[in-house]
Formats: sequence, C-alpha cells, structure tokens
Amino acid sequence: MGAGLGADAELLASRGWRTTAFDVSASAVDLARDRHPGTAVDYRVADLLALPDDLVGAADLVVEVFTVQALPQSLRAEAVRAVRSLLAPGGTLLAVQFVRERGAPVGDSPPWLLDEDEIRSLAGDDVELGTLDRRPHPLNPAGPDVWVATLRRDA
Ligand SMILES: C[S@@+](CC[C@H](N)C(=O)[O-])C[C@H]1O[C@@H](n2cnc3c(N)ncnc32)[C@H](O)[C@@H]1O
Repeated sequence: MGAGLGADAELLASRGWRTTAFDVSASAVDLARDRHPGTAVDYRVADLLALPDDLVGAADLVVEVFTVQALPQSLRAEAVRAVRSLLAPGGTLLAVQFVRERGAPVGDSPPWLLDEDEIRSLAGDDVELGTLDRRPHPLNPAGPDVWVATLRRDA
C-alpha cells in the first residue's frame, strides 16, 4: 500500500508473493510500471481512504512503509483503520515508520512521524501487535530511527 515506485512490491513478487501494489498517485503508478517492464505486480491507482471493495480483507500480507506518516494527523485514525481493513483473517501487517520522540513537536508539513503510542495504535479492532522494534535506518544509521512493527489479524 502507498507503493510509490514499487521497490517493495517488486521484492515481494520476486519472493513469490502474488502482489498488488496501489498508490493514490497515478503518476507514481505509471512510473512504477515503466520501471518494471514485464512485472508480475498488479499496479493500481487506489486511495487508501476510499478503498475499492476487492482490496478490503483480501491481503495475507500488507506492507506499509512510510505511508501513514505521509498523511496528516487529522486523517491518522481513518488511515489506520483503512490499513487494518486490507488484512484478510490471519493476515500480517508489516509497518515501517520513522520515529518521533515522545513529546517532540509534530511539524506542519510531511512526514508526520509517529511516537511510540502512535505506532502501537496500529493495533485495534481484531488486529494485535506482535513485535515492535526500534532500529537505525539501514541506509542512514546516523539519522532518525525507524519503527518496525508486525501485527496480525485474528484468524
Ligand atoms: C513516502 S512515500 C513511500 C512510498 C513507498 N512505500 C516507499 O517506501 O518507497 C508515501 C506514498 O504514499 C502514497 N499515498 C499518500 N496518500 C495515499 C493514499 N491516500 N492512498 C494511497 N497512497 C497514498 C504517496 O503517493 C506516496 O507514494
């Protein structure tokens, strides 16, 4: 979800996942298709906040990297519910977001980083937090850390 130029989607497809990658940006989807000719990934334009019915409850694995933090806090609760709604029963959500320290100011422009309570709030309804790690970003270890969370919907 929020697949951007498709790097994560292509990795998943290369590992054998039947992969749908969606983004609200039609130009991102066009670029992703152009970058990966012959791809096995089904690239689609879709809005997380107005999901097409066939994506709801359909995914055994949802990969969410830096998309929730791209949406303003006023949309956070709606966005998080939508992320969860993609999961099929028993499905797993992998979420990666940059860390905001507790009490640190929220900026006026994106990204709107998540503090620990906010990353934990990805859990809810019948989706439970499995693991939550805080790690250096592998490409910029001196920069801000990232949250790496896995969650699971009840089977
Ligand atoms: C920071 S980029 C991350 C892209 C990709 N996940 C990555 O890690 O390279 C955030 C992506 O979320 C997409 N996005 C923002 N709002 C969205 C929405 N409502 N529905 C779907 N995608 C959205 C943007 O177009 C952008 O491609």
